[in-house]
Amino acid sequence: MRRSASDPDLRVSLAGLTLQNPIMAASGTCGYGEELAPFVDLNRLGAVVVKGLSLTPRAGHPGPRLVETAGGMLNAVGLHNIGIEAFVRERLPRLRHYRTRIVVNFFGDTPQEFAAVAARASEAEGIAALEANVSCPNVRHGGVFFGSDPRLTYEVVTAVRRVTPLPLLVKLGPHAADITAVARAAEEAGADAISLTNTLLGLAIDLETRRPRLPLGFGGLSGPAIKPLALRLVWQVAQAVRIPVIGGGGILTGEDALEFLVAGATACQVGTASFADPTACQRIIDEMRRYLRRHRIAKVTELCGTLRMPAAPCLPPLPV
Ligand SMILES: Cc1cc2nc3c(=O)[nH]c(=O)nc-3n(C[C@H](O)[C@H](O)[C@H](O)COP(=O)(O)O)c2cc1C
Repeated sequence: MRRSASDPDLRVSLAGLTLQNPIMAASGTCGYGEELAPFVDLNRLGAVVVKGLSLTPRAGHPGPRLVETAGGMLNAVGLHNIGIEAFVRERLPRLRHYRTRIVVNFFGDTPQEFAAVAARASEAEGIAALEANVSCPNVRHGGVFFGSDPRLTYEVVTAVRRVTPLPLLVKLGPHAADITAVARAAEEAGADAISLTNTLLGLAIDLETRRPRLPLGFGGLSGPAIKPLALRLVWQVAQAVRIPVIGGGGILTGEDALEFLVAGATACQVGTASFADPTACQRIIDEMRRYLRRHRIAKVTELCGTLRMPAAPCLPPLPV
């Protein structure tokens, strides 16, 4: 297919897959995919990443689970999900008819549990890739601890890699002291791509009651407030690994998404934006296309990793 600057090519290649465009609906913000279908033509998205799945169903945390904050929101969903078995039996058969790539986000309390979920997902038809969530900040066990430690990340990814031939994305968060060490550990253990960033642990306070606004205290911060942090992480990780990076955190517009590509990402995840505007993913794709036309860029991949960073950027090795 010949493309030109008036009809730009949005396709990107990722972990052996071609996505029709770089926009992926982020895990936990589009249900199991079909929840977005009344608002967005799922066939037009690069990929849909479903809500994080575990070996058995989880009830999650009590409500309210979301609170709005300046420039974003805090969530404490607690990884509520229907479990891999119910997803494969009840949701996947309808979902796999869409022309978009289906990515299964998953987690466990131990490396063995991660592997068991991955093994079950790998037997099913219609899943394009897996995304191991080693960075959820609002659960008591596992979660953010795995992804903050290169050794634990290595253990989880090694266990999963042994049981799945599917492309394996590993989702990191901002809480590691050295994000590049964690990303390299995931790469060495066999990850095909790194996605980041997950949410940051935060606290919102009700001054009248002097209680946290979320029943269990803390929650994960997402939305535009975290975009600069996410861009920095994406740039750092893209410098440190040879596998592709999927960037996200606070993307609201096509221009935001393109900034992540310039920082070194191959594709982007859009999360919180869909809460304010359920059509966000589709709108962002259209905005990206318009930007490329305006700037006479024939292929979106021409922008990837083109950040003009100073030769020796000031980046002290600080814990986040
Ligand atoms: C309500 C909610 C639920 C989420 N659930 C998951 C999840 O199950 N697995 C996961 O890896 N990330 C989860 N995330 C993180 C998002 O996928 C995304 O990485 C993060 O929100 C940053 O992007 P954003 O600022 O565009 O929302 C969740 C985020 C929100 C807001």
